[in-house]
Amino acid sequence: MKTNLFSLRSLSFLLFTILVSSCKLMHSELTLEHLGKDRTVIHAQLSSKYLLLPIEETAKESKMDISSDGKKVKAINIHLALNKVDYWVPLDLSEYAGKKVTIDIQPSADSALCWKKLKLSDSFDTSNKERFRPVYHHTPKYGWMNDPNGMVYLNGEYHLFYQYNPYGSMWGNMHWGHAVSKDLTHWNELSIAIAPDQLGTIFSGSCVIDKENTAGFGKNAMVAFYTSAGEHQVQSMAYSLDKGRTFTKYAKNPIIASTASDFRDPKVFWHEDTRKWIMVLAVGPDIQIYSSVNLKNWNLESSFGKGQGAHGGVWECPDLIQLPVDGNSNNKKWVLSCNLSQSGGSGTQYFIGNFDGKTFTNESKPEIIKWMDWGKDHYATVTWSNAPEGRHIALAWMVSTQYAGNVPTMQFRSSNSIPRDLSLYTQGQNIYLASTPSPEMISLRKGKKEVNAFKVEDTYNLNPLLDKNTGAFELNIGLKDISAEILGFKLFNSKGESVDFCLNETEHKFSMDRTKSGITNFSREFPAITSALVEKSESFSLRIFVDKASIECFGNGGKFVMTNLVFPSEPYNRISFYTKGGSYNVSLFTVYKLNLNNK
Ligand code: FRU
Repeated sequence: MKTNLFSLRSLSFLLFTILVSSCKLMHSELTLEHLGKDRTVIHAQLSSKYLLLPIEETAKESKMDISSDGKKVKAINIHLALNKVDYWVPLDLSEYAGKKVTIDIQPSADSALCWKKLKLSDSFDTSNKERFRPVYHHTPKYGWMNDPNGMVYLNGEYHLFYQYNPYGSMWGNMHWGHAVSKDLTHWNELSIAIAPDQLGTIFSGSCVIDKENTAGFGKNAMVAFYTSAGEHQVQSMAYSLDKGRTFTKYAKNPIIASTASDFRDPKVFWHEDTRKWIMVLAVGPDIQIYSSVNLKNWNLESSFGKGQGAHGGVWECPDLIQLPVDGNSNNKKWVLSCNLSQSGGSGTQYFIGNFDGKTFTNESKPEIIKWMDWGKDHYATVTWSNAPEGRHIALAWMVSTQYAGNVPTMQFRSSNSIPRDLSLYTQGQNIYLASTPSPEMISLRKGKKEVNAFKVEDTYNLNPLLDKNTGAFELNIGLKDISAEILGFKLFNSKGESVDFCLNETEHKFSMDRTKSGITNFSREFPAITSALVEKSESFSLRIFVDKASIECFGNGGKFVMTNLVFPSEPYNRISFYTKGGSYNVSLFTVYKLNLNNK
């Protein structure tokens, strides 16, 4: 039996030893061995940098164990092409150049198309192949991205780490990807910052700058906190002494262990009053608050959540920041935010109150629910640590968890929102959070079209909105002298696709209807109308940021905000104002082309 098996194996090995390199023709570099129906082993001894893996998104997932010189070095989950190739992803094997590498793939059909399509290459083409690739929003060059992570400012650089799958444009194999920017708008992609290890994949978290070297890693070390997602979710740390370019994992990870099933997304900050580090952690339907003097040993201080705000799913990616109320730095309040993903959609809610270094107290009635953004596509929001001039800058993953994996892009999925500066304002008995586009966004304005004030008694059309409209622009609209009950406008393209924006003065609502916005059929949840509650007002101002696949509306200086994705088959380039039950004046109407280049 043994001999038979052996000879069978060697026979199949011989039979299936095929040349699979299309970029480099080297017999010795790659051989395939199919072991039975469900297992394939690739034997490689590469001089090329990458093995390019063909992906079919709907193909069954396989596990790929990669070993070098007999030692397992990496394990990834992958959807190798069975019948068709959606795209390739690079497996960087340059570290093992010249060494014997085996890649054991299970399950894997021997008849799958992928075996014919494997390629060897020294480069991987990341040039944009997508019509819905944003012009000015951050996206990864390829692969899947979810939550923004570890955002921290250091020496003139904004660091943006993010949940990243380099092996497909679907969720999985979570790493921390990394990009840096000097101005929050131009992003430079760097290599992967933190990769999975024996404790698990790398879930969301935060970074701090350890200015006083409390952890002993070095003065001004960048210290990252993340969830290791293995058998359990536990908290780990890593540090960088070279401005985030390389991280060393702490030898004694995990720093906080648990057997709870949802125990993740540490956000750490320095609390000056108690001179301690504070960590907020999402634990099922609660936020746990921990403190530490050295970033390594943590004490549980309190929990917040029960009976507070919106529930209906787990809370994720919490944050706790302190902001002046109405710009008065003598009156500061604490804002605890968390992201909630439930069957009706996902969003960022927040609570305003007091924090004494141990406990957070919500100062509003517990049943009051406050949303940071009223659109469908604003999730996993957290703020930058150590931002200059006391700024609190937030960034959201710009998609809903309901259809994040189905949006009609392939080379990459998804993008982040534009950065937003946060502030607090009082309205009636309550304090609320306003989000305004970060001032850096102004520098993207390239070309301006201004229309003189006009009155809308019936309809008013502007066609075209812009000459040579690339689909990336900002609208600034001022509405005054309102006698209408309903005032609104639609953005159209020549295909009849449209988005309707409407202020209902009777119901105190601002809404956006994207049911006819373009491609909507990839998810039942996508064609939607979203609404925000707005205060009755004599006048309204709107700043609307449109990009290839998104619309972000900031009303009345960020007092109501709405972010929704759209997938029009060509840019919206016509606007039509309408009214019901009266008239209004459009006192300001300016359109700016937005571009990262100087054009
Ligand atoms: C939020 C989230 C986090 C988790 C991460 C995993 O979108 O579920 O709670 O850390 O994504 O990718």
